[in-house]
Amino acid sequence: MIRQTLDGDTEVFETEIDGETIQWDNGLTYARHIQTAQLLSAQVPVSDKPDEMLFIIMHQTMELWLKLVLHEGRIVYDAVKADRLAVAGKGLDRIATIQRHMIHSWEVLATLTPHDFLTFRGFLRRASGFQSQQYRELEYLLGNKRGDMMIVHKDDAAAMARLRAAFEAPSLYDELLRLLARRGFAIPADHLDRDWTQPYETSEAVERAWLAIYTDPDHHWDLYMLAEKITALEYYFQEWRFKHMKTVARVIGHKPGTGGSSGVNYLVKALGLSFFPELWSMRTEMVAPREGGDYAAGERK
Ligand code: HEM
Repeated sequence: MIRQTLDGDTEVFETEIDGETIQWDNGLTYARHIQTAQLLSAQVPVSDKPDEMLFIIMHQTMELWLKLVLHEGRIVYDAVKADRLAVAGKGLDRIATIQRHMIHSWEVLATLTPHDFLTFRGFLRRASGFQSQQYRELEYLLGNKRGDMMIVHKDDAAAMARLRAAFEAPSLYDELLRLLARRGFAIPADHLDRDWTQPYETSEAVERAWLAIYTDPDHHWDLYMLAEKITALEYYFQEWRFKHMKTVARVIGHKPGTGGSSGVNYLVKALGLSFFPELWSMRTEMVAPREGGDYAAGERK
């Protein structure tokens, strides 16, 4: 084994194993970079039941992916504000890939039978994903401004500060509408500056703007592609919600949740929510293009 001391305390080690050179550097090890000791010591069951480990790791992995979705979501948000649509599109592609992975990961939790869960459910007391700070922040970033949900974090000043900042700022959709206005679309003034803590109200003018983009994609190609990626974000978000609801129904039936809600019924209600409503309603208004690319007025597909 070769050992070489660099500046100060840093040592580089090198050895040969099966014809491969293996090197490591005590200045920055894998464990120090990835923080494996902290990460792997964070699974702390509250029961002695073996299936609780799956439950904890499922939540922790979802929280890690949520952290990355929030991180990328902020990059997309800033890119939209700065008219950097290619950067926004790249971030949205990454988010979609993470979302598909998150959706698929529900399959792992679905191996938890009702019996498995009931062995430790009582130990969870009132702890519930209801209280996920990151999930709530993501909802605020995307535009579901339900301020009353913040109350469960009232004793955590740092959490409240983050949530309040996202709650009081324009959502990603609000910033998209400002982008459309900068591109010359007639977006109503009360959709460009308002009390952002209030729920979004749909507008026919906004629907017309998206319709104009979708009926003439060649002229609005970058906005058209961005809109499809934004639509995918909600499409996958809803699929995540659906898989959560179905997994919950599979594990606890129609029992109330540990967080106090009606359980599955509460989760079904969330399937009716929309972050980007006119991007969906506009699709009903679209008509078939004529030969040559024009659109036939008033025709519906
Ligand atoms: C067997 C596993 C699970 C069960 C039985 C379950 C059950 C529930 C129920 C009943 C609710 C409604 C609130 C309540 O009364 O508690 C809820 C909300 C929630 N759960 Fe789960 N859940 C499970 C796994 C997960 C996982 C792995 C995550 C990932 C982070 C998660 C995230 C959430 C979130 C974010 C909410 C709030 C949704 C909203 O307010 O729209 N859950 N869960």
